[in-house]
Amino acid sequence: MGNLKTQTAEAHRFLGSQWDSSPTIGIILGTGSGEIADSISADVKIPYSDVPHFPTSTAIGHKGQFVCGQLAGAKVIAMQGRFHLYEGYDVDSATLPVHVMAAMGVRQLFISNAAGGVNPNWQVGDVMMINSHIDFMYRSTVAMGQCNTAGRPRRRSDQYDTELIQRAFRHARAANFPLYQGVYASMLGPNYETRAEYRYLKKIGADAVGMSTVPEVAVAASYGLKVMAMSIITNVAKPDVLEETSGEEVVDAGLVAASKLKSIVEDTIKRS
Ligand code: HPA
Repeated sequence: MGNLKTQTAEAHRFLGSQWDSSPTIGIILGTGSGEIADSISADVKIPYSDVPHFPTSTAIGHKGQFVCGQLAGAKVIAMQGRFHLYEGYDVDSATLPVHVMAAMGVRQLFISNAAGGVNPNWQVGDVMMINSHIDFMYRSTVAMGQCNTAGRPRRRSDQYDTELIQRAFRHARAANFPLYQGVYASMLGPNYETRAEYRYLKKIGADAVGMSTVPEVAVAASYGLKVMAMSIITNVAKPDVLEETSGEEVVDAGLVAASKLKSIVEDTIKRS
């Protein structure tokens, strides 16, 4: 695949040839956040398959394109669909879009994902603002680059921006909808966790668990981008109850959560 710098430069050059603009805000849309993509007034949509060096996304329900345009008065580049490590990509390939967005001049990155609730207080359809993470993919270091740190520890990979988070909470209070915050545990997947693993995750302080986001956040942190990341809770782990979540419940929950996400992202952009 060649080296990451070259790939980033070539993908950047290609996007520049398709969209003559400099976005300041990047958005990665996970499951259930199509509503945000629809409210972007798009100048152009660019399929990942056209972009040099990009993997071809295979995850179900993921479109696999950039939506480039205006949202809430700002120039944004949004990823509709992302690359997961469980699809077999290495960290550099899966996070290539974040490298490219940083090269394009993006300074703030908004991320959404679907996650399992480990905190028993969460309900399906809740939105959890991520305030830190536990990396069970063990890839944060790789994502942040293998550069020489001169023997010093590197900055933390959980650079979730406190100002953006506070702004989101102020907005949720004013708009009168519940917003929670907590710790996201990232797993390689693709299998969901065992009962024992859910119990363990709860015990060590995770509030939600999913299979994405942490590599993207780690790359964004390495560039000093301001990050805000939210999980839509699509199922709540009850390891001691024999009960399955129904598919419909998850879809309904996704719709309610999607409008909360949209409203937070739009408000945050307006106030930036
Ligand atoms: N575990 C991991 N990833 C997930 C889950 C889960 O329970 N729900 C949605 N994504």
